[in-house]
Amino acid sequence: MSTELSRLANSLTLSPTRTFDKQARELAASGKKVLFFTLGEPDFPTPKNIKRAAFAAIKNDFTHYTPVPGILELRQAICDKFKRDNNLAYSPDQIVVNAGVANSLYLAFNCILNPGDEVVIPVPSWPTVFSQVKTTGAEPVFVQCKEENDFELQFQDVAAAVTPKTKCIVLNSPCNPTGAVIPEKTIKKICELASEKNLWLLSDEIYEKLIYSGKHISPALYHQNTITLHGVSKAYAMTGWRIGYTATPIQLATAITSLQGLAIGNPTSVSQKAALEALNGSQGSVSKMKKEFRNRRDSIVKLINEIPYLRANLPKGAFYAFTNVSNLFGKKTPGGKTLLNSVDVSNYFLNEALVATTPGQPFGSDAHIRFSYACSQEQIIEGMQQLKKAVEKLT
Ligand SMILES: Cc1ncc(COP(=O)(O)O)c(C=O)c1O
Repeated sequence: MSTELSRLANSLTLSPTRTFDKQARELAASGKKVLFFTLGEPDFPTPKNIKRAAFAAIKNDFTHYTPVPGILELRQAICDKFKRDNNLAYSPDQIVVNAGVANSLYLAFNCILNPGDEVVIPVPSWPTVFSQVKTTGAEPVFVQCKEENDFELQFQDVAAAVTPKTKCIVLNSPCNPTGAVIPEKTIKKICELASEKNLWLLSDEIYEKLIYSGKHISPALYHQNTITLHGVSKAYAMTGWRIGYTATPIQLATAITSLQGLAIGNPTSVSQKAALEALNGSQGSVSKMKKEFRNRRDSIVKLINEIPYLRANLPKGAFYAFTNVSNLFGKKTPGGKTLLNSVDVSNYFLNEALVATTPGQPFGSDAHIRFSYACSQEQIIEGMQQLKKAVEKLT
């Protein structure tokens, strides 16, 4: 025997979005004033009513183990949310509360996939999705969403990617990193295809509340074997509380509960009480944050398009501007380096303009970089001014 790590452990790296953020944080720690457009997390504090619910939970000693799938009150509140917002009827035994949607995704994939299965993933996509598929031994099959279609997923591309090995189709609307929203007619056709071929649909709806144009439609309305993933991180500025949830047919919910029991026992008790208040309490803070995100989206997209060689579409949802930087490829930096890809451009922007972004390559498009505009208007203005100067220095 040996003390070597497993094949899985040896195949793992830090998530690419975290890698670029880490690099920028190291530069900031050396005393430089770096402007961050990296991580997808709202800069707003968690709303006060939610924090009060968490304080009360601690005060009332709600600090012990809970049922594995989460407390019944919260699972009922999630069912009420689905009925209210999406016209979906779930019972609490179809809901499992997890430690964030990243965890929901991991549990769901591990409960449906076997090595050799194929999973259709529209790209550009959150890289965690395909990295997680690979850890199960299944194969991601990519469907390219094109910029000229506003990154909107096309039904015929999905249909062409389905093979006899396909087990699941992943949907993420609004999408990280493009902000694209899938129209209802496309969702319906994909659901028909999934029903006909007997496939799982996995729908990550974490940005549902952040849609500025277009309408959110849950595929679970049209296809029974849908795994709906949702959570409180983005809409309620609760990224650190780690609460996500799955809504599925009961048999899968039971499997997810068993795997969760092995992996984490239960989601954090105090965070569950906070999430309960997020879903049942006033939704005023969500509309305020959304209004502010829309203003920031309008500013950043306008300012990006004023920078020579950069081009960004107006995203319909989420809080990212996925920006085409391919017109910079071939240009030389003042240090004599030729920019060849999105990683080079991100690195140049970081080192020359102190603007931290995420290259598009890990999301599945090397022609782009991602700006997260979950930051202040002042930072957007200052950052884009610095970028413009950096671009003007290229020859
Ligand atoms: C599409 C998508 N799903 C899920 C998550 C993660 O959500 P959570 O904080 O609940 O793990 C992210 C985070 O960036 C995301 O972009």
